[in-house]
Amino acid sequence: APGSGTGGDLAGRHVVVSAGGTREPLDPVRFLGNRSSGKQGYAVAADAARRGARVTLVSANVALAVPDGCEVVAVGTALELQQAVTAAVAAGDVDAVVMAAAVADFRPARYAEAKIKKSHGQGDESAPTIELVRNPDVLAGLVRDRGQHDRPYIVGFAAETGDGTGDVLDLARAKLARKGCDLLVANEVGTDKTFGEDTSTVHLLRPGTEETVTVGPVTKTAVAEAIWDTVVPQLP
Ligand code: CTP
Ligand code: CA
Repeated sequence: APGSGTGGDLAGRHVVVSAGGTREPLDPVRFLGNRSSGKQGYAVAADAARRGARVTLVSANVALAVPDGCEVVAVGTALELQQAVTAAVAAGDVDAVVMAAAVADFRPARYAEAKIKKSHGQGDESAPTIELVRNPDVLAGLVRDRGQHDRPYIVGFAAETGDGTGDVLDLARAKLARKGCDLLVANEVGTDKTFGEDTSTVHLLRPGTEETVTVGPVTKTAVAEAIWDTVVPQLP
């Protein structure tokens, strides 16, 4: 039962965890998606339940068993995920939100009610251009809506590959400042790293301190434990 692990250091707490990756439909048979397996978010939810929390797991396109003690809300798109997370937080009793989901930054501007055909009326050799529009930033919205209140504690994730502008830690530090969340869990991603794997290496960054805790390579369960070990003492 939800929150059945009474006596843990999250007993009496309600946490919301988003996990998986959103899919943005183009037509009835196609979507824009990403490589998130949901394993890290599910591990975060499972560990919170073990520690005694009531857990609302907002799950986007994940093929994993529901962890013991978690209440799942299944979503497909970024807009659905935003709706589910904000509705859970609006209930007012949420102590922490962990945004582990890979939320699509963009969605197709238009949804085609009928399957898009190879010959789409502009000559047989042409290809269509897919116009995209921005999705809302769910995490930024949570920070904004919290205003001056100290609850809920908000955890963001950052999947970084590193690029010409900086390494993973530089990019993560900048993202933490931009997002305004209380903890940023940064991991290095690439086609051979993290996605779908059972282990990963993450850096835990908090505002107001240059100190960075690096965990791994360890199992995603151990990463989840390290996240809650960091969050629990900070909860108001
Ligand atoms: N996130 C979100 N809503 C979005 C995009 C991201 O809530 N529309 C959340 C993710 O769940 C994650 C955090 O923001 O916790 C960081 O996501 P990431 O994709 O790394 O950052 P972005 O701000 O989208 O920046 P970019 O993709 O350009 O690196
Ligand atoms: Ca993004």
